[in-house]
Amino acid sequence: KDPTITVIGSINMDLVVSVNRRPEKGETIKGEMFTTMPGGKGANQAVSAARLGAKVCMIGMVGEDEFGNELKSKLQKEHINVEGVESIAGISTGVAVITLADDDNSIVMISGANATVTPDYISKYEDLIANSDIVLTQLEIPLEAVEKAADICQKHNVPFILNPAPAQELPRSLLNKVTFITPNQIEWESIKADNKEIKKDKLIVTRGDEGVTFFEDEQDRRVSAFAIKPVDTTGAGDTFNGAFTYAIAKKDSLYRACVFGSAAAALSITQTGAQTGMPTKEDIDGFLKEWKAIQRG
Ligand code: RIB
Ligand code: NA
Repeated sequence: KDPTITVIGSINMDLVVSVNRRPEKGETIKGEMFTTMPGGKGANQAVSAARLGAKVCMIGMVGEDEFGNELKSKLQKEHINVEGVESIAGISTGVAVITLADDDNSIVMISGANATVTPDYISKYEDLIANSDIVLTQLEIPLEAVEKAADICQKHNVPFILNPAPAQELPRSLLNKVTFITPNQIEWESIKADNKEIKKDKLIVTRGDEGVTFFEDEQDRRVSAFAIKPVDTTGAGDTFNGAFTYAIAKKDSLYRACVFGSAAAALSITQTGAQTGMPTKEDIDGFLKEWKAIQRG
């Protein structure tokens, strides 16, 4: 049976430019390309899980503007339930200005409507949360809203996964409520700094081309990354999180969930745009089969 996953988080329009090099201070340069793409860590993770066949409910906010309408209908096209996505007047839809350069991507995020996702707003959708097999959230909405989501999950015994991105200080009370927390290396450094004894069995660290580390059967374990030449790594983490959550909801082992998430992320980075390239279940199964065959030689 396909799991029901509720994703609570941001919905952005990504304004993507690519450049050969970054401008110096005060300099104007010509870029290579401009495109708008649906994004936002919340929406990206929702799409990642939906492509795999999960029944996904999204909870978030957009502005009453063109970007907002477009993003909402894009989510619907992915068969995501948008009952919990409201439009608010007077505030723009969230945007992320993404610069793709040779060395790496950089992002300027404007929260806009995402900042109006309050604890009360989350409470309004308590039923959606209570009826989910699992809940997934990130940190592009106010922290208090994430804490409210964690409380509701605890109340109804729903597993709660936190992707703590972008990096932010986290209260211990929240860390105590997570089923899994999935920082990348940088986010993990900042969590570790003020939380010496976070439970290892809740922790999944994504380390880019160094793979994923986790703790299972009393041991530190690692899944190595699939060596894929990236075209655009934007949304790779989101793809991992959506796929990882799907696998956990289907009661896969941690090891298998990490392999599945890593394979999804590897496939997603072969195309420009956070959501472009996010694979289906069949894509991942095919990829893993091929990969095994290659390794056998
Ligand atoms: O994780 C990638 C996402 O971060 C982008 O889609 C952008 O919207 C930013 O929020
Ligand atoms: Na992509």
